[in-house]
Amino acid sequence: MKSIIIAPSLLSANFACLLQDIRACEEGGADALHLDIMDGHFVPNITFGPQVVAAIRANTSLVLDCHLMIREPDRYVPAFVEAGANWISVHVEASTHLHRTLSQIRGLGAQAGIALNPTTPLEFAFEAAPYVDFILLMSVNPGFGGQQFIPGTIHRIKRLRQWLEMNALDIPIEVDGGISSENATVVVQAGARILVSGAAIFSGDIKENISSLRKAAKAEVSTK
Ligand code: DX5
Ligand code: ZN
Repeated sequence: MKSIIIAPSLLSANFACLLQDIRACEEGGADALHLDIMDGHFVPNITFGPQVVAAIRANTSLVLDCHLMIREPDRYVPAFVEAGANWISVHVEASTHLHRTLSQIRGLGAQAGIALNPTTPLEFAFEAAPYVDFILLMSVNPGFGGQQFIPGTIHRIKRLRQWLEMNALDIPIEVDGGISSENATVVVQAGARILVSGAAIFSGDIKENISSLRKAAKAEVSTK
């Protein structure tokens, strides 16, 4: 795994020319594609399902990072794995039987992640840590792209990183929402390893935007 993973969120891509935008992400050096799955219940927006994920899978070898913002995710996990998802994160707020869901994801051969809304206690992550491959901290309220980064997230990233280090756990922290080259440095400095970015990557030149984000993320690493 590269030290910093950049995962463009296709939510802000041009859905009429998705393949073109995916190619630009590949050429720009993206490591993964972040796919936001919304059900209109857990979040007030609807996006796409396994069929679209399968179509993307057929056209790229990038890691597919499926962020499930849906209630009762267990019902849909098999379909997303079948569609080619490599990483699947579920929201702790939307999962009644979290341990079962995480075991299901891993059992089907995908990497399992938990996602936490901006004020959800980090204790959920502490309890679930033995069963996850990555932890996603939301830095906006889920549902829409293009929102402002919530500054309190920085403290949460630091606190989670410290706890993981104290417990000798090398679990990457993913941060999602309002990430740009303006704040990537401080986000990485706090301890994030996977950066999701939508609006900042897809407005303007995709390749240039990915490389500025990478530069900002690296700028931090070298000063550590
Ligand atoms: C929000 C999504 C995010 C979001 C990221 O519900 O989970 O992935 O689209 O996009 P930006 O970077 O535009 O906040
Ligand atoms: Zn997301």
